Amino acid sequence: MNNFAFVNPVKIIFGKDTIKDISKEIPQSAKVLIIYGGGSIKKNGVYDQVVDALKGYTYYEFGGVEANPHYETCMKAVALIKEKQCDYLLAVGGGSVVDATKFISMAACFEAGDPWSVVASGAKMEKALPFGVILTLSATGSEMNSGAVITRAETQDKLAFNSPLVFPKFSVLDPTTTFTLPVRQIGNGVVDAFVHVVEQYATYPVNAMIQDMFAESILRTLVIEGSKALESPEDYDVRANLMWASTWALNGWINCGVPQDWATHSIGHELTALYGLDHAQTLAIVLPGVLEYEKERKAEKIIQMGEQVFGIYNTMDREERIQASIKAVEDFFEQMQVKTHLSDYELGEDAVEAVAKRLNDRGWKLGEHADITGDVVRKILKLRL
Ligand code: NZQ
Ligand code: ZN
Repeated sequence: MNNFAFVNPVKIIFGKDTIKDISKEIPQSAKVLIIYGGGSIKKNGVYDQVVDALKGYTYYEFGGVEANPHYETCMKAVALIKEKQCDYLLAVGGGSVVDATKFISMAACFEAGDPWSVVASGAKMEKALPFGVILTLSATGSEMNSGAVITRAETQDKLAFNSPLVFPKFSVLDPTTTFTLPVRQIGNGVVDAFVHVVEQYATYPVNAMIQDMFAESILRTLVIEGSKALESPEDYDVRANLMWASTWALNGWINCGVPQDWATHSIGHELTALYGLDHAQTLAIVLPGVLEYEKERKAEKIIQMGEQVFGIYNTMDREERIQASIKAVEDFFEQMQVKTHLSDYELGEDAVEAVAKRLNDRGWKLGEHADITGDVVRKILKLRL
């Protein structure tokens, strides 16, 4: 196991009817800005619960955060915060709303020019407004981590930033809020969380037994409960297991002391930025390609995943077990109704070339060995036409 330091300060408030508890977390004197997305919270009763819980507070609201949140939209919220002098933010929605809120919390305090520089070139941020989260879509883990992914529409850049200053103060995880998710978002959420775990697990062994077994338990939970959520959208226990699994998939715990990949996410972000695919759709396309291309260097962990998660035991030879494990991952994504090939989204060679060029231009070297260049990405994506 490699050396590591670990801290996660996010308070989790989990369970039914917990939205009302936000009044115990937000100071009574706070001027709150509620931040939300395209309106799902107004249809499913979540907004009403939030407003009830904020009785007696001074609060304002900012709606319209889009999926894959835009810098341009976030800056409108920053202007409102300055106008109304808000000092506490409340994100109500999925990962996009949470990520937008992280950026807004930073940008509202940023005094060294354009806050986009924090995302684009790692400019140092000094502080951020405090914020809480009410999560309505289990997928990203953003509710319990310090990362965010923001898109600059003008340049089609989709880039991540990370800072301990943007850990949420608290996150309310009420699984009943996810009952209204459309099938597409149920599938997306399960696939995203699955790929988060694989990016921190399917690299090479460093004998980190706790992290490995914890990762396998998250993957198994997603496999067991994922299809149940499609069949019975209002099964509380299924939703609770999925919500908690996706939080733990990316809260910093399973990546302690282990190598990490993240090539699939980096390639996927380009597909979203250029062609507007959902985040999880890009991952479902790319991950099987990364596993296939890297199958020799990842062999031990692919075989271990096949055995522990999909029950692929050593009745076959080594190569067959690797192929069966990769196929099991792809089949699981399809079972979650997330398509796994570029052609399923009407993309072809042109898209492969465009993504490869962008990554070559950026000079990025991805993966746990930091050697997946744009040229290698071209080969990976050609496996996924
Ligand atoms: O906007 P509204 O109307 O709320 O509708 C949303 C949106 O259309 C809808 N939705 C959310 N909760 C709902 C619901 N519909 C019905 N009932 C509910 N309870 O779902 C749609 C998608 O929402 P979004 O927030 O975009 O989805 P998700 O949570 O998958 O977030 C995706 C974003 O997170 C980033 C992605 O890149 C993408 O931008 N990620 C953030 C990460 C992080 N911060 O750690 C890690 C991830 O890898 C990921 O990159
Ligand atoms: Zn993701």
